[in-house]
Amino acid sequence: MKVLLAENAGYCFGVKRAVELAIKTAQDNDNKVYTLGPLIHNNSAVDMLKEKNVFSVDDINNVEGNNIIIRSHGVGKDIYDYCSEKKINLNDATCPFVKKIQKIAYEMYNKGYNIIIIGDKSHPEVQGINGWCDNKAIIGKNLEEFYLIDFNKIEKYAVVVQTTMPQDTFFAVKEYLISLGLTLEFYNTICFATKERQQAVLDLSKKVDAMLIVGGKHSSNTKKLAEIAKKNCDTFLIETAKDIDLEKIKTYDIIGVGAGASTPDFIINEVMDLINEL
Ligand code: F3S
Repeated sequence: MKVLLAENAGYCFGVKRAVELAIKTAQDNDNKVYTLGPLIHNNSAVDMLKEKNVFSVDDINNVEGNNIIIRSHGVGKDIYDYCSEKKINLNDATCPFVKKIQKIAYEMYNKGYNIIIIGDKSHPEVQGINGWCDNKAIIGKNLEEFYLIDFNKIEKYAVVVQTTMPQDTFFAVKEYLISLGLTLEFYNTICFATKERQQAVLDLSKKVDAMLIVGGKHSSNTKKLAEIAKKNCDTFLIETAKDIDLEKIKTYDIIGVGAGASTPDFIINEVMDLINEL
């Protein structure tokens, strides 16, 4: 049996930066620090962070102490305003790629454009971006959702995309919106880390008998990797090496391993080691 690791797998630059900032803030304060929402959608990584005094809260009112860490997904303007009013230190680990989208949404909204976000309205990144245009963005995650929206031809629209959306979705929605004859400005804000991980999984899934996609079951970018791999070979979404169905895996000759942008290296290594042992 042979095991191959996808060329780009694991922590992206934005998540790595957020994890480092959170750990450093906890060390510098020699006390517990809180992130607003989990820093990473991966249970093992969350446990590792707890050991380093980094905890997560869902409500800013539950923060103890005077430090809050904003995760890579970013937050709306109201959180910045609240922290400045209450004199809470806001340690900002918003990924620069997300920050750029927030800036576009804020500036274009203030220039009189309606903001369209191609993304999942339940995702914190999208909710954060929406918080930079008075929560008035028009949001849809696929063509079917956009078909249901009534657009006003007199209005102007600026279109941004959630960083983890597939390129195909962006181009399909773009084509549809153009066909409506609207006044549009497009910003393809899909992050290259996502593209690289998706491409690496697509390439590898064509060369192997089965793929293991390692990542949190709630992580949207991990789920997308699994969807891509599934088109070419048997695919298993696992959180850690413990989730591997060893009997099933033994039936394949070549196994590929891919991992989402929020999967820590130590988990990827455990998976690789276990398969190598087989
Ligand atoms: Fe940032 Fe892209 Fe990662 S937006 S958090 S580098 S997936």
